[in-house]
Amino acid sequence: MKKTKITGVGYYVPDNIVTNKDLEKYMDTSDDWIVERTGINERRWVNEKIGTSDLAVKASEKAIEMAGLTPKDIELIIFATLTSDYNFPGSAVQVQDKMGMDTIGAFDIKVACSAFIYGLSIADQFIKTGQVNNVLLIGAEIQSTGIDVSTRGRDMAVLFGDGAGAVVLQATDGDSAILSTHMHSQGKFAQYLWAELPTSLENPCMSHEMLDAGRQFPQMNGREVFKNAVVRFPEVIMEALNANNLKVDDVDLFIPHQANLRITQFVAKRLGIGMDRMYSNIERYGNTTGASIPIALSEAYDNGKINDGDILILAAFGSGFTWASAAIRW
Ligand code: ACO
Repeated sequence: MKKTKITGVGYYVPDNIVTNKDLEKYMDTSDDWIVERTGINERRWVNEKIGTSDLAVKASEKAIEMAGLTPKDIELIIFATLTSDYNFPGSAVQVQDKMGMDTIGAFDIKVACSAFIYGLSIADQFIKTGQVNNVLLIGAEIQSTGIDVSTRGRDMAVLFGDGAGAVVLQATDGDSAILSTHMHSQGKFAQYLWAELPTSLENPCMSHEMLDAGRQFPQMNGREVFKNAVVRFPEVIMEALNANNLKVDDVDLFIPHQANLRITQFVAKRLGIGMDRMYSNIERYGNTTGASIPIALSEAYDNGKINDGDILILAAFGSGFTWASAAIRW
């Protein structure tokens, strides 16, 4: 049976840097508070009329070029995002159009922070069953335009950034491949990290009164998210290791969803590893939700931190709650 190899990676972040000091102009916050509680120094926010699919195209071009393919070689697009260009259709079909691809399958998955790993798992099934050979998997978000950039929304506004990452996945008979993927959810915690509107529970699904009340903005019970994240991250990492008879010391690089530096540090400590093997770039990009793992993976590769034969563990926890992991031999 075929396996799935990552043959191309790429990422793109907007040029516009927003520092913690910049945020002090919009809300009652401080660089000290943000750094101490999240580890974030700055993030990228779009400052022009641009869609999430436009960021995705820029990342995808790099991944497709690295794979030695053309857009017309891609047979399936999976797009992990919470912030698609439109409510519907999703952004995958925008990428199909903008990159001049054939009339291939193209769909979005809305699994927040865990979406990229869910997408890896989905793509792996399509490739292992022989249905396709070349898949483009994208994680991209424009969050800056959907958060409450004010003191009312400061607990969330300081966390999130914009960006896109993409990988090309191809069928292989070789040993460099995805070894396993693991997906979980617990819907009873949905309202601990959510954005309520538009909602089919209301008629109309969105009204001026609801918008005035800020019900379209993401809300989070930070303490509950933290409490659950620091349990589920190690749990799903160990699940990936055990599934492949690997030990923590066999892993060359852990690449977690960039939720909060405090969470990442807590997980590293729980695993008994140094931060040299736990990739972190939240300091400069913030939390880019579905884009955070493909951005980190691409940046780590570009910076020479990933070598042939390396064992990588990807792990994510987020809205849903959902959590997931993947074990990869590079
Ligand atoms: N600047 C200054 N003060 C702030 C800010 C801010 N940006 N945001 C909140 N505060 C204040 C609050 O008003 C509160 O003040 P009070 O005690 O006088 O009322 C105080 O800080 C603590 O507020 P909490 O919301 O309770 O802050 P908490 O201690 O929970 O820390 C944080 C917030 C850092 C988000 C924390 O909950 C956390 O680390 N959560 C982990 C979850 C996370 O980071 N998620 C990221 C997105 S989800 C994901 O990717 C999995």
